[in-house]
Amino acid sequence: MKIAMVGSGYVGLVSGACFADFGHDVVCIDKDQSKIDRLHDGIMPIYEPGLDALVESNVKAGRLSFTTDLAEGIKDASAIFIAVGTPSRRGDGHADLTFVYEVAREVGATLDNEAVIVTKSTVPVGTGDEVERIIRETGTTQRFAVVSNPEFLREGAAIGDFKRPDRIVIGAEDDFGREVMSEVYRPLFLNESPILFTSRRTSELIKYAANAFLATKITFINEMADLCEKVGADVQDVSRGIGMDGRIGAKFLHAGPGYGGSCFPKDTLALLKTAEDYESPVRIVESVVKVNESRKRAMGRKVLDALGGMEAARGKKVALLGLTFKPNTDDMRDSPAIAVAQTLTDAGAMVEAYDPEGMELAKPLMPKVTMVDDPYAAIKNADVVAIVTEWDAFRALDLGRVKELAKAPVMVDLRNIYQPDDMRSKGFDYTSIGRS
Ligand code: UDX
Repeated sequence: MKIAMVGSGYVGLVSGACFADFGHDVVCIDKDQSKIDRLHDGIMPIYEPGLDALVESNVKAGRLSFTTDLAEGIKDASAIFIAVGTPSRRGDGHADLTFVYEVAREVGATLDNEAVIVTKSTVPVGTGDEVERIIRETGTTQRFAVVSNPEFLREGAAIGDFKRPDRIVIGAEDDFGREVMSEVYRPLFLNESPILFTSRRTSELIKYAANAFLATKITFINEMADLCEKVGADVQDVSRGIGMDGRIGAKFLHAGPGYGGSCFPKDTLALLKTAEDYESPVRIVESVVKVNESRKRAMGRKVLDALGGMEAARGKKVALLGLTFKPNTDDMRDSPAIAVAQTLTDAGAMVEAYDPEGMELAKPLMPKVTMVDDPYAAIKNADVVAIVTEWDAFRALDLGRVKELAKAPVMVDLRNIYQPDDMRSKGFDYTSIGRS
């Protein structure tokens, strides 16, 4: 089966490479010529474990190719995926669908065979209807169906998530759409991944509801962590204690500096906009967005407290370990580290930072921060060491060396990767999240 993937970003490229690995014939299309040139040279536009090898082997096998030519790329494809970006629109938080609609227009205008057009980008409820209207408006005489198939993969674990998903959601309005999608995902049915067929609008909402629910779980445990600090309880045991209840579930209950990334912040805002448009408020999600936003700066103040407060922080040195919104990615979008660094530099602290993959993208976002290429260079003469992202490299710091190099053995661990008792016994003044 031939599949066209329009948009070779995170979701497009990973999905395209995985579909090729299942044995489909896949063309990834992107209008960014330099991205396509680099892909031809085997250079990945993103950092994702295992992606380069997967792309290389499928290109070699002749199942995966790249082009900037949409008309050529979609020729003979039975399924045409739209996986272009849907950023937050400046000013109002709505998802910006310009790229999705542009692709729909171009697909309609050049469609040469019957095909199913699939929105994989996260799009607000009703987008599939609009995509269908746009394609119809082009006057195409080909049979087509528009289907919603949201993607739930996580960055850093993208290939595993795509190949072994908890579920596949397909929103289709007719048998043609359902049949072609069954064929697309047949290799995964064999893996016994559950599949949910539903209506297009329901499928579109499922994606937003899932992300908003996960963001809510994180924000809930983050507030419990604050309360734990006040009452002298341990948030990790609270997470375990509630997570063992099957109705709650143990995952996404890890307290930290607040969620970031390319999905949760953008998708929760877009859900709020949809709710507003339909006058059906989602007040819990409204609170989640506000609480998470204020938390990021509060985490900066936590580091200031370890320096003796706002006044005392002026001229002091902070070693910031980890900048990306989570480990195993170079993605800096909406990373809590940005607000943490801003709070620190606003207070006049000197910040030196290290991140295994994120420093290139972080530089323009935190111009007052000095990037160094080794964690111990950042720690040297630091008044406080702050861990913001839980990269493996920071789980195994040589604590003896940290103590020797730092001006004072003070650590703020915003990801709870060390144990309070252990750190204290090693002579650290150690603060973490929701534990005392
Ligand atoms: C998320 C969803 O998980 C995925 O299903 C969707 O398709 C895209 O959005 P991703 O943005 O890659 O994926 O990251 P994820 O691993 O979900 O983490 C998001 C943020 O939440 C990170 O900043 C992470 O540090 C934070 N987080 C996650 C916590 O603070 N605590 C947790 O327990 C889990």
